[in-house]
Amino acid sequence: ATTPALLGRGIGFRSVPMTVTEPLAVPPGYTARVLCAWGDPVGLAQAQPMWRPDAGNTAAEQAQQAGMHHDGMAYFPLAGSARHGLLALNHEYTDERVLHADAASLAGGARTAEQVAKSMAAHGVSVVEVQADAAGRWSVVRPSRHARRITAATPMRLAGPAAGHALLKTAADPEARRVLGTFANCAANATPWGTYLTCEENFQGYFEPPTALDDHHRRWSLRSGGSASNGNWARWHLHDERFDLRRHPNEFHRFGWVVEIDPHDPTSTPVKRTALGRAVHEGAAVGVSKDGRAVVFMGEDARFESIFRFVSRDPIRPGGAAANRDLLDHGTLSVARFDAGGRGRWLPLVHGQGPLTADRGFADQAEVVVRTREAADALGATQMDRPEWTAVDAATGEVYVTLTNNSARGRPGQPGADAANPRAPNPTGHLLRWRHGGDLAAEAFAWDVFALGGGETPGDAFSSPDGLTIDARGVMWIATDATPMTQAAPGDRLWLPRNQLLACDPTAPGGPQMRRFLVAPEGSEVTGPVVAPDCRTLFVNLQHPDAGWPEAGQRPRSATVVITRDDGGLIGT
Ligand code: FEO
Ligand code: CA
Ligand code: CA
Ligand code: CA
Repeated sequence: ATTPALLGRGIGFRSVPMTVTEPLAVPPGYTARVLCAWGDPVGLAQAQPMWRPDAGNTAAEQAQQAGMHHDGMAYFPLAGSARHGLLALNHEYTDERVLHADAASLAGGARTAEQVAKSMAAHGVSVVEVQADAAGRWSVVRPSRHARRITAATPMRLAGPAAGHALLKTAADPEARRVLGTFANCAANATPWGTYLTCEENFQGYFEPPTALDDHHRRWSLRSGGSASNGNWARWHLHDERFDLRRHPNEFHRFGWVVEIDPHDPTSTPVKRTALGRAVHEGAAVGVSKDGRAVVFMGEDARFESIFRFVSRDPIRPGGAAANRDLLDHGTLSVARFDAGGRGRWLPLVHGQGPLTADRGFADQAEVVVRTREAADALGATQMDRPEWTAVDAATGEVYVTLTNNSARGRPGQPGADAANPRAPNPTGHLLRWRHGGDLAAEAFAWDVFALGGGETPGDAFSSPDGLTIDARGVMWIATDATPMTQAAPGDRLWLPRNQLLACDPTAPGGPQMRRFLVAPEGSEVTGPVVAPDCRTLFVNLQHPDAGWPEAGQRPRSATVVITRDDGGLIGT
């Protein structure tokens, strides 16, 4: 068929088959181009160091270039434009063997001070100015007065209930108000007031564990003992002692937060919003309650962890970032309990309520947010199948979450299937949908299973949904991060050797139908999808491709890709 049947909300492109042979495939009539790869200069005024294919760039150069392992991303229009704006994007982690010129020097976990500095500079966030020319071809504007690199060493402010608390005090910061850096930044979202929320995910892998583990360390699965087996893959502690929990135990409490950045002001100080809890943060989709307050939905991507919601105390004020600078510091954090029969409740994580009292080990709200996992356990939160991104459909008020997979569900000693996590094991994941009766701040909700991976939803099969966004038209974009499902034969619907980006109309009367829009390069996951406000450009990140992408014969580079239609039309129609 040359003219594919239209799906709801006008989805009309021809599905990309998994059998394509090109490294990166999009439907006929579309073009995908690399816009900004690891090592490209971000456009700082002082210097534009070019990427060196031998990985010979210094740490100082890396701090002026895009970091590694692009992940969550958001687009911020300049002067309201859909063709000229800022992209803020996360650099989740590093492949140290690719980052450094001399991979052999890393043997046994060894690092030089320069290697640690380069690794820290390859983490964090980039802000790049991007613009389409008259022909619709996008490029990064260099130099740009907006360009910025935020790394694992950038000064940040702590705000909210844990700021100033004893649990966050360190020798370098006895007031517990100022932290250096952000890392493990995975999902991201723009707020309605024009800021960027970046989520600190697997921060626990960056610390040398303490010799004696307490219950909190164990709740985070820290392991004491030998350097090869204790989970500290980053090795930063060898040259920066704050990452050694034997010497600075409270540094551990200063990560795992959602960080708010004003992308329009490169001199602004990023803020860690502790009111939103401390977790392996994924997804931070922001909706608006009936009375105008901010409502943030957050997954925690780990097996049997939970889903959180934060509702601000105050309404969003007109006036952008400056008018809402403390909005996310006051409000109510809660955790989801999914009950059978499609009902559920948001359980408040509020000190003094229910079991969250001093005699149960929570002396104040700071302890509740620092030990969010233990607080959620005490409340009986539902243990989910690795909740990743969330998305709010502004037109319907429905909220979605991807549950990427959980191969451990149903194993001996592990929880079995429940209503909201109906498969044990769950190797291919699913998506859930909430309805809040017209008010995203409501305590009770209705929920249903929106889509099941592994070919159980009509249309193109998928596995391990992760990135999620709903564009201005209401088209849902689902990015996958699967270990390839290759047990099926080529040509089968379940043959999924590469990751993909799918489009879907979440409101279609017959239920969701998936259509494959992009097939990713070998080895890479698809993440950070974002559609420009006019729906004529789609930006997406390709993380951890195999060697040879984007340049044949070269070391691999994660990259932001921009996709447009050759006739300038709406993406996906
Ligand atoms: Fe960084 Fe949950 O993926
Ligand atoms: Ca993810
Ligand atoms: Ca993932
Ligand atoms: Ca990843």
